[in-house]
Formats: sequence, structure tokens, C-alpha cells
Amino acid sequence: MSYLRHSDPAIAALIEQESRRQATVLRMIPSENYASPSVMEATGSCLTNKYSEGYPHRRYYQGQEFIDGIEDIALERATALFGAEHANVQPYSGSPANMAVYLGLLKPHDRVMGMDLSAGGHLTHGAKVSFSGKFYEVRQYGLNPSTGLVDYEAARALAREFQPRLIFTGASSYPRTIDFSMFRQIADEVGAYLVADISHISGLCLSGDHPHPLPHADVVTTTTHKLLRGPRGGMILCRAELGAKIDKAVFPGLQGGPHNHVTAAIAVALGEAARPEFNEYCHQVVKNARALAQGLLDQGFKLVTGGTDNHLVLIDAAAQGLTGKGLAQALEQAGIVANANKVPFDPRTADDPSGVRLGTPALTTRGMGQAQMAQVAGFIGQVARELDDPAALARVRAQVAEFCAAFPAPGVMV
Ligand SMILES: Cc1ncc(COP(=O)(O)O)c(C=O)c1O
Repeated sequence: MSYLRHSDPAIAALIEQESRRQATVLRMIPSENYASPSVMEATGSCLTNKYSEGYPHRRYYQGQEFIDGIEDIALERATALFGAEHANVQPYSGSPANMAVYLGLLKPHDRVMGMDLSAGGHLTHGAKVSFSGKFYEVRQYGLNPSTGLVDYEAARALAREFQPRLIFTGASSYPRTIDFSMFRQIADEVGAYLVADISHISGLCLSGDHPHPLPHADVVTTTTHKLLRGPRGGMILCRAELGAKIDKAVFPGLQGGPHNHVTAAIAVALGEAARPEFNEYCHQVVKNARALAQGLLDQGFKLVTGGTDNHLVLIDAAAQGLTGKGLAQALEQAGIVANANKVPFDPRTADDPSGVRLGTPALTTRGMGQAQMAQVAGFIGQVARELDDPAALARVRAQVAEFCAAFPAPGVMV
């Protein structure tokens, strides 16, 4: 940052501090990761200077000979990697990708079904506070109270009664496998589009650690910055016949010029995800999540569904007389960064919920394995036991910093 340090020391200093933070804490927010130095180089490149509204070889601005090549490669890699007929790599992020699906396939006030936020769904799947709950008629499905798993039969009954035009599946805090084929059957029964939002699990769908949403879903959406380890962005994959509708919804329906620096970085991340090492990484993410879950159970924590099939675990802190926020704040003081989260059927509010959500993607990128997850669970147990003792939390913080030093964070300056 030789230029920035000189021209804007305040921002440079904050970036450096954030960099140090990312290297010295255990980053366990399941939607976060470390993008590779190559992805970061593409994101920080001169491509940010270029306007290119439209799509490759059909632009509204001149000077696209290299930009077109970049987007062509991103599209080729996206369709090949996911086995999709059509891709759009321009959505600015996951929420705009989902918004484009609504805009492309529905009319305002059409009927939509999505998973409830408190069951683990995402805001854009029909929550009242989101555009999706405001501009569409939404009914939400949830979990079976006795198992904590998606209640497919209740979802089917709701679909039959409500007759939605579109069903969203996918989640932000669901630790188990989603049965896309079951949702396909439900969508077929009522003639609805099926959209699979695999933002959290896209890497696992590629590595075979989670069933693939294709060919079941009509449309697949994903962020590119979580398990996929790319830049902050979004992507839509769909059947060829829906491609024109989706493309028109993204541009000109919703967005202006694509973020070409992000498109290039998405291409780089997809190139990385096509290598065998990426599959190994995803397998390890799941092994680590299982080891973390076991470690937490050994520490006396209660976990939603009792464990995990994917990259995340959800602690029910209320079972130990704690609040999710209280535990998340104490963890942060100890150098373990997670997020407070609702648990299924949570009597508490989203601002001050009962659970804490933890994931393994970022720690796995740093090279940690199952043995380290047992140690991390030990740190978390110590924090929960000594929550009100700042000196004890500071001691854990020092241990965490020492522990982190053995696992360098890619692309992060120390
Ligand atoms: C399932 C799911 N969909 C969509 C999004 C939205 O992505 P973004 O925050 O990039 O808009 C998220 C973000 O966490 C998510 O978990």
C-alpha cells in the first residue's frame, strides 16, 4: 500500500489494522473466508476504471476488447464448473442476484415461498423487512420442531394450498443437507419455478460434499465470496431457456455497469475452484465442522440438530443459560469472531438471539485440521465458562493469537 499510506494515511492505517485482525483472530463467521492473493490482485486492478454496460460483444460503450475476454472466461468457467447451460456473473452480490431472479421470472405481487429467516433462510427469500417480502406475496416454510430439519411435508402442504409461482430453497444458517430433489417434486406439483440459493454451500456442491442443485433447480444463485473463496460478488446459473430473462433482469433491469474487477476475480476464483486442491479443501471444511461440532459437544454445548453435515454449527447458548449475543461478544474479546444468530423457534429477537453461528471455511483455508478444531472448541468452552471475567478472556485472547501465528492467513499483511 505504498501509495495509500502516503496519500491517505488514515484509511491505510485502518486497512492495515483490519489486516492484522484477520491474521490474529479465529475468523469463524461461516460466510467469510480468505480470498487468494491472485483474487485480491484482480480485485484491486485497473479494471475498476472501465464501464461496460451490456454483455460480452453486445456493449453500450466502446473499448471492450479485453473486458469481453475476461467476462467470456468467467462465463465459460462458471457454466463448465457447475454444469449449467447459462450463467450471469454480473450481480453485484448475493442479494442483487436473488433480486434479479424475482425481477426476471415474476410480476410484482406474484406468490413466492421461501424458508423462514428464523429457520435459517435468507432475508431475500421473503422476509418482511426485505424487498422480497414487500413486493411479493410470500408464505414461508420452516423446520420440523422435533428434528430441527426442513419440514418437507409441511412445505408440500403449504405449496398445494398457496400455489406459489416460485419456491426458494437454500439457507444462511442451516447445518444439514438440503434435499433439492424433494423441492423439485414440490415445485412440479404446483407448477412453480425452483430456485436454489447455494451461497453458503456452493463449494460443497462442487466437491460432492453436498448434493448438487442441478438438474433439480431451474435457477441457481450464489455469492462468490463465501466457500467459493472469490471476491464479493454474485452469480446466477440457469437453464438456457431462462437465460435471456435473467440477463435482462440483471441489466438493464436492476444494475448498470458490471464491476469488471470483480468479474475478473470471479474468473480467477472459478479457475482455482476447478483444481483438485479445491475439492480437498471443501472435504476438509466439512471434516473440520464435524470435529468442531464434536469438540463443542464434549465441552457441554447444545447444538441445533445435534451436529452438522456442512460447514457450520449453531450453538444454542440458551441451553447453558447464556444469550447468543453475550457469548458472541465474549468470544470476540477472546479473539474468536462469530455471530449471534437465532436458533429455530427462538423466543428471543434477531437483535439479541439465543444462538451463535460458527463455521470452518476461513480456518480451513489457513490450513487448520480436525486436531485444531478440538483446540478451538476448547477455547470456546473456556470463554463460555469464564464469560464475565475480562482477565480470563484476555488470557484466551493471548493463547488464540499464539495459536493463529502457526497458520498464516493467505493474502493478509501482518
Ligand atoms: C443464502 C444467502 N443468500 C444470499 C445472501 C446475500 O448475499 P450478500 O450479502 O452478498 O448480498 C446470503 C448472505 O449471507 C446468504 O447467506
